[in-house]
Amino acid sequence: MLQRKMHGVWKSRWTFVLAATGSAVGLGNIWKFPYITGENGGGAFVLVYLACIAVIGLPIMIAEVLIGRRGRQSPINSMRYVTEEAGAQPTWVGLGWMGVVTGLLILSFYSVVAGWALQYSVSAVSNGFAGISGSQASARFGELLGNPSRLILWHSVFILMTTAVVATGVTRGLGMVARVLMPLLVVMLILLVGYGLFQGNFAEAFSFMFSFKYDHLSWHGVLTAMGHAFFTLSLGMGAIMAYGAYMPDHANVGQTVITVGILDTVIALVAGLAIFPIVFANGLEASSGPGLIFESLPIAFGAMSGGHIFGTVFFVLVVIAAWSSAVSLIEPGVAWLVETGKFNRLTANVILGGVSWLIGVAAALSFNLLSEFKWLLGMTPFDFLDFMTSRVLLPLGGMLISLFVAWYIKKEVIEEEMDAEGHPMLEIWLFLIKWISPALVAIVFVWALWGSIAKLLGVE
Ligand code: TRP
Repeated sequence: MLQRKMHGVWKSRWTFVLAATGSAVGLGNIWKFPYITGENGGGAFVLVYLACIAVIGLPIMIAEVLIGRRGRQSPINSMRYVTEEAGAQPTWVGLGWMGVVTGLLILSFYSVVAGWALQYSVSAVSNGFAGISGSQASARFGELLGNPSRLILWHSVFILMTTAVVATGVTRGLGMVARVLMPLLVVMLILLVGYGLFQGNFAEAFSFMFSFKYDHLSWHGVLTAMGHAFFTLSLGMGAIMAYGAYMPDHANVGQTVITVGILDTVIALVAGLAIFPIVFANGLEASSGPGLIFESLPIAFGAMSGGHIFGTVFFVLVVIAAWSSAVSLIEPGVAWLVETGKFNRLTANVILGGVSWLIGVAAALSFNLLSEFKWLLGMTPFDFLDFMTSRVLLPLGGMLISLFVAWYIKKEVIEEEMDAEGHPMLEIWLFLIKWISPALVAIVFVWALWGSIAKLLGVE
């Protein structure tokens, strides 16, 4: 079955940059990065995260694009193609399967958080944040979490939005999102940074994010930083592979990937600089967890003039950024179901969207009815889904992808795809994905795991 059903190829590598940036920039940058930075003590965590992007994330991203472009199909069938071409064991195709499952698991809790942003867009439009204080903002967020039907409603809306886009064929609308709305989101974030400079505690925020206090960082924090590098770049589950399938043959993969990585990283850092000044000026806890942006930003919007307009625009843009990311979480599975020839795009979406929706209900109930349900390694369903995907499945998937490309794909094929025979960067990249990136993932896994076991045994 060594045969590729070619689908269309994008005209230039810029379409790939737009699609991949649309996938990469999302709740990971605006919601997750600030709150995990807060939980892990700031500076040292940020530095480890940046190092993970550079040394582990970008090299593996190149590997993922390479498989997609070589296979030119859904991740499962692209893996099947490159596995056969390389003469490797068919079990490697399991990587494609693992990616589909991981994507659905991420979508299930991602959609719940996107639902919070939907609710906040509505609250902002009705000027619901006017004059709100820090403690009122926290109480307001707490009320939302305590309302299961509200959470499930918005979660359902977001799953419907996502499947509606994917069902009509992914790429059409995405270009607009990345070209117009993403820059607008950056403008809004910069406005918030400006607000923080004058009204917030910018100095403390800056030193929190960029002074390296290593004693604040645990191995678990390092694992969190590494996992987040995968999460924020949409790596390790085939999303980038799926988009790589549309990349033109002679586009420079290295440059393209670096562009995406820089855009994504800058947006995360700016989001941090927007949020922490407000957090510190209003007596909120940097380590308060997943509610961080929802408890801090309303204070700023409530205090500035025209805040209900800025607030609405901001949360709507966050929803849109999440939307263009969510699409890439379900697309690999949908593309595969369609390739089997047994489903059309609509039914494929109904099935996979339904699965994510159902799991997502458990994630939504983690904050209320199921908050004491901690059977899953002592975590609520929401925390468990986040843990299993970001900290386990994505790094594992990424590690296997890099090992596969480095050790199984023939050098000629790599050189042909990379279009860079004998280029010194090619050798450096190969060395990274052959040894360094997988070894670092393995080391962090072992240390973090040992830390958890030690804690369980009480021998810390
Ligand atoms: N990168 C996105 C964000 O930061 C989330 C995301 C989209 C993702 N597709 C992915 C994460 C694939 C992991 C794998 O919000």
